[in-house]
Amino acid sequence: MAVRVATVAFEGVEARPVDVQVQISSGAVVFNVVGLADKAVAESRERVRAALIASGLALTAKRITVNLAPADMPKEGSHYDVPIALGVMAAIGAIPSDALEGFVVLGELALDGTLTPTAGVLPAAVAANARGLGLICPSECGPEAAWASSDMEVIAPRSLIQLVNHIKGAQVLARPEPAVRRLAADQPDLSDIKGQESAKRALEIAAAGGHNLLMSGPPGAGKSMLAARLPSILPPLTPRELLEVSMVHSVAGQIAGGELTDRRPFRAPHHSASLMFA
Ligand SMILES: Nc1ncnc2c1ncn2[C@@H]1O[C@H](COP(=O)(O)OP(=O)(O)O)[C@@H](O)[C@H]1O
Ligand SMILES: [Mg+2]
Repeated sequence: MAVRVATVAFEGVEARPVDVQVQISSGAVVFNVVGLADKAVAESRERVRAALIASGLALTAKRITVNLAPADMPKEGSHYDVPIALGVMAAIGAIPSDALEGFVVLGELALDGTLTPTAGVLPAAVAANARGLGLICPSECGPEAAWASSDMEVIAPRSLIQLVNHIKGAQVLARPEPAVRRLAADQPDLSDIKGQESAKRALEIAAAGGHNLLMSGPPGAGKSMLAARLPSILPPLTPRELLEVSMVHSVAGQIAGGELTDRRPFRAPHHSASLMFA
């Protein structure tokens, strides 16, 4: 019988549902991953094998087949480690097979069985919540996942052993709390600018009224410096905007410690940047 674990594949900031199907059968000892997996996903079996052994779960000398469905959707990244590991654990009976029902699972595994942070936890949590499911993710990403909804279930274990203990009720993990990052004091601030009274006034009017701004002047006049300081006088992101901006940060792997920031983003693409990367 195949065990199924729900996870996601990313298309931009969209998290599409992916089913991890694990089947253990008798035969030669092999561990196969199929379903249009890229190199990082294919290598996942080595991490999963090592992590399971480190967690005290010797893999039975059996044939393990993992299918990532739908098989025609490309799967990229290392976040399939944890759903694959949990699928194998359920298939060998280390955890009850119904324990994972109602959860979307994602996360990378270290060889010692700890869960390491992965990109995209926030969009995955938002997608899970929209499907009425909970989320299992690495502990460091827990605060990020908790943003998706205050009443969805989020389990953020540090290691596979901690997750097993939680499922068996031996050591119940607390739900992570959403966190906002305190900004470092060295963020660019409008007060850094000397003089330039009319430029600063223009910046303030643009900020207050939500207007566009065109700056023209010789190199070194301070245009880039002024522009980079606009976010310092803009209001913090509203919760809805914060979620939207953070989804992009999340898939780009730019959320450290699961903490989101409510400062408005600033991009300074070079004029020679190609369209694709601008
Ligand atoms: N009014 C100003 N107050 C403080 N520093 C300034 C000012 N104008 C220019 N500078 C300094 O000059 C540097 C170059 O400015 P920059 O913003 O790169 O110019 P531009 O984009 O117009 O070519 C800034 O990083 C800053 O150190
Ligand atoms: Mg400039």
